[in-house]
Amino acid sequence: MGYRVISPASLLLTSLVLAHGVTQAMTQKAPNVIMFLVDDMGFNDVSWRDERMHTPNLQRLRDDGVELNQLYMLPKCTASRAAIMTGRYPYKTGLQSNQVFRHCKNNTLPLHLKTLPQYMKDLGYSTHAVGKWHLGFCNLSATPTHRGFDSFYGSYMGSIDNYKLEFTKGEGGYDFHFNEVPHWASKGHYSTDLLTQRTQSILKEELSGGGGEKTSPVFIYLAYTAVHDPIQSPSRYIKHTKCSHIKDPYRRKYCGMVAAVDESVGNITSTINALGLEDEFLLLFASDNGGAWAHGASNWPLRGHKGTVFEGGTRVAAFIHGKKFLPRSPYAYNGLLHGVDIIPTLVGAAGGTVRDDMDGLNAWQQLQQNVSSGRTEIVYNLDTEGEMGAIRHMNATSDFKLVYDKYEKLDGGCAGWQGEPPGAPKRPAIVPCPDYMLFDLSVDPQENDDVSNKFPAVLKQLTDRYSQLKKEEVKKPYYQCMKMSKPHITGGAWTHGWC
Ligand SMILES: *[C@@H]1O[C@H](CO)[C@@H](O)[C@H](O)[C@H]1NC(C)=O
Ligand SMILES: *[C@@H]1O[C@H](CO)[C@@H](O)[C@H](O)[C@H]1NC(C)=O
Ligand SMILES: *[C@@H]1O[C@H](CO)[C@@H](O)[C@H](O)[C@H]1NC(C)=O
Ligand SMILES: *[C@@H]1O[C@H](CO)[C@@H](O)[C@H](O)[C@H]1NC(C)=O
Ligand SMILES: *[C@@H]1O[C@H](CO)[C@@H](O)[C@H](O)[C@H]1NC(C)=O
Repeated sequence: MGYRVISPASLLLTSLVLAHGVTQAMTQKAPNVIMFLVDDMGFNDVSWRDERMHTPNLQRLRDDGVELNQLYMLPKCTASRAAIMTGRYPYKTGLQSNQVFRHCKNNTLPLHLKTLPQYMKDLGYSTHAVGKWHLGFCNLSATPTHRGFDSFYGSYMGSIDNYKLEFTKGEGGYDFHFNEVPHWASKGHYSTDLLTQRTQSILKEELSGGGGEKTSPVFIYLAYTAVHDPIQSPSRYIKHTKCSHIKDPYRRKYCGMVAAVDESVGNITSTINALGLEDEFLLLFASDNGGAWAHGASNWPLRGHKGTVFEGGTRVAAFIHGKKFLPRSPYAYNGLLHGVDIIPTLVGAAGGTVRDDMDGLNAWQQLQQNVSSGRTEIVYNLDTEGEMGAIRHMNATSDFKLVYDKYEKLDGGCAGWQGEPPGAPKRPAIVPCPDYMLFDLSVDPQENDDVSNKFPAVLKQLTDRYSQLKKEEVKKPYYQCMKMSKPHITGGAWTHGWC
């Protein structure tokens, strides 16, 4: 399909850094990259927003790095991961559904789509997936080691028990693998600890002794199974951290699970420092979608939750760290970014260019310079069958968002607000809503007021645009729970080769 990455002849690359109005040429080695993707972590679930959360390591990296104030993802796991992995909006690849990939179905990330690790490999990176995949495994060709990763250690599906490492939303079955085979020795250990140790081993194997001379940089995609339900964490995180002060028992337990992720990030950065490589890494941290209220997460003060196209379902806690590569840090970056921008931006950071019909934009230089990303539109999602979608249009004078949501009304209304800090006024969790709503995010980022009556011309402009985008929508393929469902678990573990 003509995908190409233009890579420099060697990994010594020249990047333009605009400092004090002067364009300088600077020679840099391509950064090692770790992308930390947390599952279902809420916008408010970090210590710089809710000080009751125990995330000192994340706070340190964010305080010293570039906070991504407006990074958006899709409302749910599979769609978000598909956007991150392909740089394409899921409505254009048939992956827009809020119904995530099911264990028994023949669903896969379409095999013709080039993936993030494949782009990184073209630039000379070694590539490793650690953690949750959730983009299909019914045939070997769909699994991480056949989709661009040199190695894989983790689970094929979402919602695994964090100690038993078994799937929790169906017939069970062990779901923890090393490359293409089940890894039984991991059973009984806490998933966040396992994923941390694996990441530390990769770093030591690939980079120790190299101290910067090693020619091939490393890309690690670390997708935690935390903090998705089931909410589980070793008791030490709950007892010996600030979490013990949290009264609400759900949030206290959830805080413990977040604290474990924070400790994991701290341990990994310690390993990097011990290797003497603290200046050679870009660390990107983000949640895959908004938090789930039912499990103790909070997206406060944003509206909505995981599974909705409101801000609380899609605007995620995020930062990028790497002082050498982002010389102006620390600062908060307010430019609009979407999960589809991750491929072109990381490829840009590594000195390459994506020549493709991707939806993502390369915002690397804009991030380095703290200027607008150039993004003027976000398609939050567009799911005709699921009856939910939203788009946003931003220019120099206005910033409006159109929300289409018929689906949620089945539950009596659209999502409102929940997860307020102690002492804050309670707000309605469910509110009545029309099919189309218009929000002026420039003055109302919490989506309090539907202004469709006040700005009929904007409403028309955005509904017209929505209808136009609909023409590009690729229908979700027909997936089926395969007849041979049970034998998908062979010897007690999930396997591939049945579609
Ligand atoms: C299944 O994966 C194998 C290994 O990559 C490949 O040879 C085969 O063509 C795939 N089958 C289907 C139906 O995609
Ligand atoms: C972090 O490292 C400490 C000290 O080695 C260890 O006790 C702890 O289990 C590690 N935590 C994680 C999440 O890996
Ligand atoms: C970054 O840009 C924002 C405007 O979006 C500005 O308020 C802020 O001061 C800038 N920070 C730095 C360190 O350049
Ligand atoms: C900015 O966008 C608004 C609403 O989407 C539109 O009405 C207006 O004409 C645009 N302004 C410019 C300068 O393009
Ligand atoms: C899934 O399997 C069903 C039944 O064999 C088939 O009709 C459908 O096309 C398959 N879907 C995909 C995406 O391969």
